Amino acid sequence: MQEKTVLVSGATGFIGSHFCRAALARGMRVIALSRDKTKAQALLPDTHVISRLDELGPDEPVHYLVNLAGEPLVAGRWNEKRKQAFFDSRVGMTNRLLAHFQQAAVPPKVMVSGSAVGYYGPHQDRLLDEAAKYHDGFSHRLCAAWEQSARQFEQLGTRVCCVRTGIVLGRGQGALARMLTPFKLGLGGQLGSGKQWMPWIHIDDEVAVIFHCLKRSDLHGSVNSVAPNPVTNRQFTRALGQALHRPTIVPMPAPVARLLFGEMADELLLTGQRVYPRKLLESGYHFRFPELGLALSEILGNGEGES
Ligand SMILES: NC(=O)c1ccc[n+]([C@@H]2O[C@H](COP(=O)([O-])OP(=O)(O)OC[C@H]3O[C@@H](n4cnc5c(N)ncnc54)[C@H](OP(=O)(O)O)[C@@H]3O)[C@@H](O)[C@H]2O)c1
Repeated sequence: MQEKTVLVSGATGFIGSHFCRAALARGMRVIALSRDKTKAQALLPDTHVISRLDELGPDEPVHYLVNLAGEPLVAGRWNEKRKQAFFDSRVGMTNRLLAHFQQAAVPPKVMVSGSAVGYYGPHQDRLLDEAAKYHDGFSHRLCAAWEQSARQFEQLGTRVCCVRTGIVLGRGQGALARMLTPFKLGLGGQLGSGKQWMPWIHIDDEVAVIFHCLKRSDLHGSVNSVAPNPVTNRQFTRALGQALHRPTIVPMPAPVARLLFGEMADELLLTGQRVYPRKLLESGYHFRFPELGLALSEILGNGEGES
C-alpha cells in the first residue's frame, strides 16, 4: 500500500489517531478530516489536516476512505438532542462524504466505515456472526443507518466494509481507561447480572483489521471486528481485577446503573451480545490478541494503562 492516500474522518479519535499513525508508518499519505484543525495538526503533525471537504480538490486522489467520526456515546446521559447528534455526526458526515465523492473525478477504491456490535441489539448467549438477526432498539437503528449511508458508496464502485466493532481496549483511552479508576480503588465490580456479553478487541487488532479490510478485495459489507473470545461482564470484571491485583467485590446493581446512566445503561452496559468474527477468521485474519488476559497484560503491563 505504498504512497496511497487515505482520508480519515474522526482522525483525532481513539481509533482514528492510532490508525493514522500506523498508516503514516506504512508510508501512506494521510488526510485527516477534523472539526478542529489546530488540535488535529498538533496530535497528528505528519498528516494533511482539513476541516471541510471542499479543501480537497475534485481531482485530488483519495484511494482509501476510513470513516470513524461520531459524537461519543458515553460522554454523558442520553437525551433527544444528544441522540440526534449521534445520528448527525455519523450518518450526516457519511452523506457529506458521499456528496463530495459523487463529484470527484475518481471515487475511493475502498471505504472502511465504522459501526458497532450494538447493531445486533441485546442478545443472550447465541453466537452472532455477520448473518445473525438483530433485535431492534436505538443502538441497532443508529448502526443500521450509519451502515446504510456508507454502503451508498457502492453505487460509485467503491468496495465498502462496515466494521461492527466491539469495546476497543487500549492504553489511556477508550472504555478501559474510564474503568481503571474505580477498579484501582477496589471499587470495581460486575454490572447488573454480569451475564451480559462484552465483545472486545485490542486497539492494535482494531487498526490491523481496518488495514485487512482495505487490502482484502474479497471482504465487503458488515465485518465483525471483535476478538474471537468474547467474555461476559463477570469474566471481564474478574480478569481486570486480577490484572490490577485488586478485589472486584462492589457490584453495580441494574437499578443503580439505570439511575446513574439512564437509557444508556440498558443499551450499552446491562445488555450485550456474543459476537463472533467469522468473516475475519475465514479471510485469514490472525488476531494478535485473541485472549482477554493477553490483551489486558499488554495494556496494563507498564504504567497500568495510563497514556
Ligand atoms: N472505541 C470503541 O470502543 C468503539 C466501539 C465500537 C464503535 N466505535 C465507533 O467507532 C468510531 C470511532 O471510535 P473512537 O473510539 O475513535 O471515537 P472517539 O475517540 O470518540 O473519536 C471520534 C471522533 O469523531 C469526531 N467527532 C466527535 N463528535 C463529532 C461530531 N459531533 N461531529 C463530527 N465529528 C465528531 C471527533 O473528531 P474531531 O473532533 O477531530 O472532529 C473525534 O475524534 C465512533 O463513531 C464510535 O462510536 C468505537
